[in-house]
Amino acid sequence: MVLSDGRVLENAKAIHQGATKYFHDFLTGGTGVETADLSSLINPTISEVDNEMLCMVPFEEEVKDAISSIPKHSSPGPDGFGLAFYIECWDIIKQDVIDAARDFFNGVPLPRYAIVEELAGFGAIVHTCSRNQTELNDRIQEWQSKGLEVSGSVCDLKIRAQRDKLMETVSSLFHGKLNILVNNAGIAVSKEATEVTAEDFSDVMCTNFESGYHLCQLGHPLLKASGNGNIVFISSVASFVAIPHCSLYASTKGAMNQLTKNLACEWAKDNIRVNSIAPGFIRTPLIDAVEENPEAKKVLSHLISRFPIPRAGKPEEVSSVVAFICFPAASYITGQVLCVDGGYTVTGV
Ligand SMILES: NC(=O)c1ccc[n+]([C@@H]2O[C@H](COP(=O)([O-])OP(=O)(O)OC[C@H]3O[C@@H](n4cnc5c(N)ncnc54)[C@H](OP(=O)(O)O)[C@@H]3O)[C@@H](O)[C@H]2O)c1
Repeated sequence: MVLSDGRVLENAKAIHQGATKYFHDFLTGGTGVETADLSSLINPTISEVDNEMLCMVPFEEEVKDAISSIPKHSSPGPDGFGLAFYIECWDIIKQDVIDAARDFFNGVPLPRYAIVEELAGFGAIVHTCSRNQTELNDRIQEWQSKGLEVSGSVCDLKIRAQRDKLMETVSSLFHGKLNILVNNAGIAVSKEATEVTAEDFSDVMCTNFESGYHLCQLGHPLLKASGNGNIVFISSVASFVAIPHCSLYASTKGAMNQLTKNLACEWAKDNIRVNSIAPGFIRTPLIDAVEENPEAKKVLSHLISRFPIPRAGKPEEVSSVVAFICFPAASYITGQVLCVDGGYTVTGV
């Protein structure tokens, strides 16, 4: 079988490994991952045996490996919160996670872009970015077919020159004015502080903090020119409580919280409000799958039982707060870090 990138998978084992690698890359944000639909990766004519092998869900150990690599960036949320749960409870939840992997192999998309959809749904003209051209194009087509005004740029926010280019595009699209800048991009490395490498440090620091700082600098003239500017950072409850294995990630979010306060003070004179939203434990498809297993549900419920609102949040419960904070209804709110966490951070346990 020949993949669309020219690689040849010579036997059923290689096909299975290729499919598994694809799943792993998708979860860990590896390069070259374009869509959750494997069929687009292969030439149309394949044998029945090849097809069966390709559609086979990865073996337990392979799924476990992929799940363990998740915090780099993706579905269960990069806080390490999700990851710790999966590792602790692997024996109980493995079947459910494998079932979720099966959904993934069948092309069930992971929910993303709630903030884009929320703002565009209120009539905002949105320009978003992603490192993944195909994924971005597909989503933009979908949004445009729903009548939402969304465009996008391919941009790796870790690269300064690409941030410059992104904001040049934004300036030209919006005629030098911008009402809302949302700094959402984030990755996490879930490790003990002693295990964090120099590369981890610069990756996470640059993606989560440096990129947002620089985008604010670049966005400042546009936000000021609009006469009604808003910056929203997506922080995390990890900046309030010490979640295990999260020191690096949490530090970037802590820095973000302080930047929120400083910029709010510096730029109030320019009619720019600056706020942060700090989400807690946000629901993902894997969590849904896990909760179908009564025993796993019990463990998960115990984990979140400390929340005054004892359930995981939904992506739209975060995106709606992003929209609110930008509305005129929130015109007297600036410099705040608002936890959207079901009360988790105020329980004291
Ligand atoms: N989910 C949670 O439970 C949770 C809890 C607290 C805080 N948060 C915060 O919420 C934000 C969104 O996370 P999520 O849960 O929605 O995770 P996600 O699905 O993994 O989203 C991460 C986003 O960051 C973008 N990104 C990462 N590195 C990038 C780079 N170098 N250049 C451009 N874009 C980059 C990704 O874009 P592409 O992959 O398309 O390039 C993706 O849109 C993050 O800041 C995270 O820290 C999440």
